[in-house]
Amino acid sequence: MARMIGYRHFGGVDVLEEGSVSLPAPAEGQVLVSVRAAGINPVDYKLFGGLTRPLEVIRTIVHPSRWFARGKERPLRGVGQDFAGVVTAVGPSVNNVCVGDEVIGLLRAAPWSAREYGALATDILTSATNVVPKPASVSFDVAGGLGVAAQTAMGAMRSVKADAGDIIVVAAAAGGVGGLVTQLALARSATVIGIAGPSNADYLRSLGAIPVSYGESLEQQIRDAAPSPVTAFIDCFGGYASLAHRLGVPGERVGTLVPTPAIALRRARFTGGRDGKIADIATVAGLIDRGTVNLTIAGTYPFDVEQVRAAYTELMGGHVRGKIVITIP
Ligand SMILES: NC(=O)c1ccc[n+]([C@@H]2O[C@H](COP(=O)([O-])OP(=O)(O)OC[C@H]3O[C@@H](n4cnc5c(N)ncnc54)[C@H](OP(=O)(O)O)[C@@H]3O)[C@@H](O)[C@H]2O)c1
Repeated sequence: MARMIGYRHFGGVDVLEEGSVSLPAPAEGQVLVSVRAAGINPVDYKLFGGLTRPLEVIRTIVHPSRWFARGKERPLRGVGQDFAGVVTAVGPSVNNVCVGDEVIGLLRAAPWSAREYGALATDILTSATNVVPKPASVSFDVAGGLGVAAQTAMGAMRSVKADAGDIIVVAAAAGGVGGLVTQLALARSATVIGIAGPSNADYLRSLGAIPVSYGESLEQQIRDAAPSPVTAFIDCFGGYASLAHRLGVPGERVGTLVPTPAIALRRARFTGGRDGKIADIATVAGLIDRGTVNLTIAGTYPFDVEQVRAAYTELMGGHVRGKIVITIP
């Protein structure tokens, strides 16, 4: 039996509970992974907070068995997408990994179906296409926090065609995704102006970015900091599309991870995982292996429902530097 953290109702962190699930042997193309670390992401609490509530209503209507389901009768839905661990079994036709391999994984699902999620578990059965080999030098904690952030950061870079010579503004530059975007852009010899709170200024400087603080004088700070006009803008916070427009950045070079009405108005791009690929995780892991990029781990919490609730409470505070990871000894 695998232990898992999940939820039966939408709500705050109190809806999280521990349960167990019996996993069959891997079928064709599947792998079974013993999880060592699982990163958490804002989308997790958005999902258990009720992001898909309207779709849930439709699902309940079309499944009569759910009409009167109460309490424990409701299915326990998994939480989390990122994980790293060791392959313990492989199904037929799996040729990218073997039993005993250390892997980095990302559970993906269509936006309307939360069924594939559930990385906060001691064991995961998933498609072999959802895992890539973990370089030996990359710790399980770092690998466990990499999936969503790496794929999203690479997708955003691809979407705005970030490259050498660009002057790129990155909003939430110290966050889970923004920290990687910042370093990936610097690795491509772009100049990065990073938006964060004042307490992250030294941290951003240590990465090689020029820090500016969100607040009233932000636009002027960016104009003062930029050695020449800003050429691209990656908004990892949401709500900065109009600022990018005022700075003169063309819409197709403005990517934002969080959709807002201003995106359409400014012809900016909603980007992130939708422009990423599973291979991006291997690419970023390789850059970490070579010391080009680093994933900052803000903290780790053990696999225990109270501790997981505390981890999400910290993440929901909105000021995490890098990633929070749940560890499974
Ligand atoms: N589209 C996609 O595929 C996709 C994928 C992943 C994530 N996302 C979304 O992207 C967002 C960021 O994700 P994440 O994992 O990087 O989040 P995160 O790690 O929780 O982001 C935290 C960062 O936000 C910064 N921040 C707080 N207030 C800010 C403000 N007013 N302006 C600029 N930065 C501010 C914080 O800096 P300070 O501590 O200095 O304040 C902190 O470093 C979330 O909304 C997430 O749901 C979308």
